Formats: sequence, C-alpha cells, structure tokens
Amino acid sequence: MKAALDKGQFGPWALVTGASSGIGKEFTRQIAASGINVVLVARRAALLAELGRAISQEFGVQYRALPMDLSQEGFIAGLADATHDIDIGLVVSNAGTANPGEFLKLDRQLLKATLRLNTMAHLDITHHFGAKLAKRRRGGLILVGAMGAENGIPRIANDGAAKAYVHSLGEALHYEFKPLGVYVTVLATGFTNTEVLDKFGFDPRTMPMKPMSVERCVSNGLDALRENRSRIIPGRLNRIMNALVPASLARKMEADMIGKALATKSASARAQA
Ligand SMILES: NC(=O)c1ccc[n+]([C@@H]2O[C@H](COP(=O)([O-])OP(=O)(O)OC[C@H]3O[C@@H](n4cnc5c(N)ncnc54)[C@H](OP(=O)(O)O)[C@@H]3O)[C@@H](O)[C@H]2O)c1
Repeated sequence: MKAALDKGQFGPWALVTGASSGIGKEFTRQIAASGINVVLVARRAALLAELGRAISQEFGVQYRALPMDLSQEGFIAGLADATHDIDIGLVVSNAGTANPGEFLKLDRQLLKATLRLNTMAHLDITHHFGAKLAKRRRGGLILVGAMGAENGIPRIANDGAAKAYVHSLGEALHYEFKPLGVYVTVLATGFTNTEVLDKFGFDPRTMPMKPMSVERCVSNGLDALRENRSRIIPGRLNRIMNALVPASLARKMEADMIGKALATKSASARAQA
C-alpha cells in the first residue's frame, strides 16, 4: 500500500484535467485515495459525474465536475471562476490527445485545436494556478508530456512538438517555483494503456512493447512529485530505452510502429465498409 499524499502540502483540493478517462481518471482516484477533494475537468460531463460519485462513495471526498473544452480560447476565465472559492494545493495538467497520421493529410484546423489543447491550456493553467500555489507557498503541479517528444515523433509530428513545449515549460517552472515551496514534475509517459491507443489502431495485447498500466504510470508520477523531481519517465524499461536508443533510431522505430498500426486500422475499416 502506497503512502498517502501529504494533505497539508497538496490538499485540501486538487484539480485534474482530462479526468474523464485514462491517466487523468487514475490520477483522480489515487489523489482521492489520500483524502484530497478533486475538481474534475474534461468535456464528457456524464463520465466526470460518474467518477465524482465513485470517489466520493469510496474515499469520502468532495468533488466538483466541470465539463469544459480546454482547446477553446478563454476557457481559463470559466475555470478560475468555478474554483475561486476553494484552496487548490495540487494541479495535474494532463488533458491532451494525439491525431496520428501523415502530417500533410491531417486537417489544419484540427491540428491547431490540438495544439491549443496540448500547449496553451497548460500555459493558462500553470500561470493561473501557479500564482495561487506560489501565494500559499506550498503545493504541487504535474504536467503530463510524452517520452521522446524532444526527438520529434513522426506521424504525430504536431502532438510530439507540443509535448516538447510541455517538457520545457515544466522543467523551467520546476526551477522557478522551487524557492516558492511549489513542487513541479513533468510526467513524460511512454505508451500507456488508455483510450488514446485506439486512435493509432494499437491493440495493447499485440503491441511490440506492452503498454504500461495507468496505475503504474500515475503512481510513478506521484512518487516523483513527492520527491520534487523535475521529470520522470514512468517504467524502468522506458527509462533504459530513452537513455540508450539514439534519437534517429527512436524516430524510425516509432514511425514504423505507428505507420503499421495506422495501415492495419485503415485496412480493417475498408474491409468493414
Ligand atoms: N496513453 C499514452 O500512450 C500516452 C503517451 C504519451 C502521452 N500521453 C498523454 O497523457 C495524457 C492523458 O492521455 P490518456 O492516454 O489518458 O488518453 P485519454 O484516455 O484519451 O484521456 C485524455 C483526456 O483528455 C481529455 N480531453 C481531450 N481533449 C480535451 C479537450 N479539448 N478539453 C478538455 N479535455 C480534453 C479527455 O476527456 P474528454 O474527451 O471527456 O474531453 C480525457 O479525459 C495526454 O496529455 C496524452 O497526450 C499518453
């Protein structure tokens, strides 16, 4: 059984974006298990309400479900307004997605909306809530990125580039916020078993490298935050690969893997049509 998060430092409330599924949903559960109340943010209202009820029953915590689209400019005003009366000690800026495919074949409006979600939303959230955390002189901020983003990831070029921004922002804020008593950790995840894998056409059972469980990914992230580490790649194998595989080879491996999965996905869609 994991040690609970320190409520004095990271409570009484946390905020998790992208809480309706995958890594964000698991962050919500693990944070609530420490007795910290959670603000849940994502677009799918019904899933947020369902999760809120579940954590409230299981862990006796309060929740606030705030359905909103973080790719919309100006969302931060609504989020600030809906949380102005509570003391938030931990922010997990996790919401994000990928649009895999050949860059030139992807719709530019979709690329721009995803870029806003994967960069500007992190900027608004860290700026608004970072100021509040700094004022209380304790708390934590986790930014969810992606392993290898700095190398460039072919076939998710735009999304990989956005994650490189998240990594750089988080590492810089780790330094700036340390004297203010605020811990900042970048969680640079590798392939993890969530809904996003469907978009690539990956079958978690047959992937060349088994994707990590959300439970392990999130507990690695929270452990790193407790120690105020600037960045964590969850999973020992991921860390070894990241350290040993040269960027040019990593790009080729990812391009091949994503390319094959997308080809299989479109062949099966054609067969079903
Ligand atoms: N799984 C992996 O292999 C992997 C690898 C590297 C990085 N990551 C990163 O990990 C983070 C979590 O992803 P995941 O794997 O857990 O995928 P997921 O299960 O698809 O979760 C993504 C979450 O983001 C929310 N979201 C998406 N677009 C949104 C928008 N416009 N406004 C508000 N919320 C939005 C989704 O909720 P709604 O649809 O309800 O809005 C959902 O809760 C992302 O930043 C992703 O890039 C994942």
